[in-house]
Parts: sequence; C-alpha cells; structure tokens
Amino acid sequence: MTDFHMHVLPGMDDGSRDVETSLGMLERSAACGVDTVAATPHFYAAENSIARFLRRRQEAYEKLNEATEGRDDLPRVRLGAEALYFSGMSAADGLDGLCLEGTDLLLLEMPFAPWTDRVLQEVQSLQRDGLRVAAAHIERYLAIQPRRTMEAFFDLGTLIQCNGAFFRSRRTAHRAMGMLRRGQVQFLGSDAHDLTDRPPDLGQAMACIEKKLGRDALARFAAGGDALLAGDEGCFDE
Ligand SMILES: [Fe+2]
Repeated sequence: MTDFHMHVLPGMDDGSRDVETSLGMLERSAACGVDTVAATPHFYAAENSIARFLRRRQEAYEKLNEATEGRDDLPRVRLGAEALYFSGMSAADGLDGLCLEGTDLLLLEMPFAPWTDRVLQEVQSLQRDGLRVAAAHIERYLAIQPRRTMEAFFDLGTLIQCNGAFFRSRRTAHRAMGMLRRGQVQFLGSDAHDLTDRPPDLGQAMACIEKKLGRDALARFAAGGDALLAGDEGCFDE
C-alpha cells in the first residue's frame, strides 16, 4: 500500500522537523505495511515560487536519502507536493514540477471555504491542461460545502485522496466505506506530520477497510495506486 500524503521531508514545512523524525515516520510506515510514501510538502504560491520550492525540496530529500542509504526495510519515497489552490493556478507555469514523481498526479489542497463556480472552473482547467488532479483529504470539506457543490465537484471527475482517520473514526467510517465502495476514493494518505500528534497511521485504516469491505476490496484499492505509480495511464478510467 502507498501512503499518498505525508509531510516526511525534514525541515521542509510544518511536518517532520529533522532527519530523525523523518526516519521514525518511515519506520512507523513500514510497520503499518506501507511500501511507498509520497513526500508531499505544502506548496503555497504566496510564499514560494515553484522553482524555489523544488530547490528546497531537493535539499531536504538529499538529507533524508543520506540517512536512509542501505535501509531496504524502509518504504520508497516518491517526491510530490500538496499544492494549495490559488486563483489563476491553471495558468501558472511549471505545475508539472509539483506532480508526484513519475506521474501526472497533482495533489491539490482545496480552499477551506465554500467553493465558488470560479474555483470549480479552475480545477476543471487544471485537468484540461493534462494534469490528473487528486483532491487532498476530501473529508475535511464534506461538512462545509453545500451538497450541490460537492456533487458538482465530483462531476468534474477529480480523483480523491482521503486520510486514514476518515476510515478509522467510528463517526466517519460508515461514510468513508460508502465512498470507497462507490469508487469515489482512489488514494489513501496518512497526512502525517510527526511521530506524536499526527503520526503515520494507515495500519488501522487498512485493517478497518479489510474488516468492513473484505481483503479483495482493500487489494483493489491498493492496486489502483500501484498502477498509477507504475505508469499505467488508464488505471482510473471507467
Ligand atoms: Fe497535508
């Protein structure tokens, strides 16, 4: 299973503060049964140019790489980003640099406010430009968007990432399982930031999915992400 959302790069954002924490996060992920981790530091266009962000990300990655050399027991790390939506985003140059390494997948953090038609149009434009957009932790928005807005958003065909907690929590598990069963969720992520308050935690989420939907459903879910990472362009086609 791949963890598609983690703030694992040391000193890059409000996630891992140092290499030791990053190593601990990878060790915890391996213990959960995760074999690949998408390193998705926050990208805020108001604070960084894409070029500067990519330089900083590379430096952080190299620090982590030095520390993980020879550690075959740790998950593989693929570089990516969690890009916060901004107005005019679809016209920005270099967005492909924020995509998950080796793919055209852009993990998009939607604004935490009601989405206007303009926002939805911008997301649609991103997809028209050849990016595959995955909305990060969609469960955060379900309560704050009117139902018709969510329906319009799902109609855009955007891929969906949910956090492990959505599947694990008694309060939300039923809804999470329903969405997964209907094919509305493609990616699982821990959105881990550290080893204490927001640790890698996909083990419990995977166990809940297996218990409620069965081993085959969990395997199919994992296989979709694996196919994307392997370069299968049609992996989420209907
Ligand atoms: Fe995040």
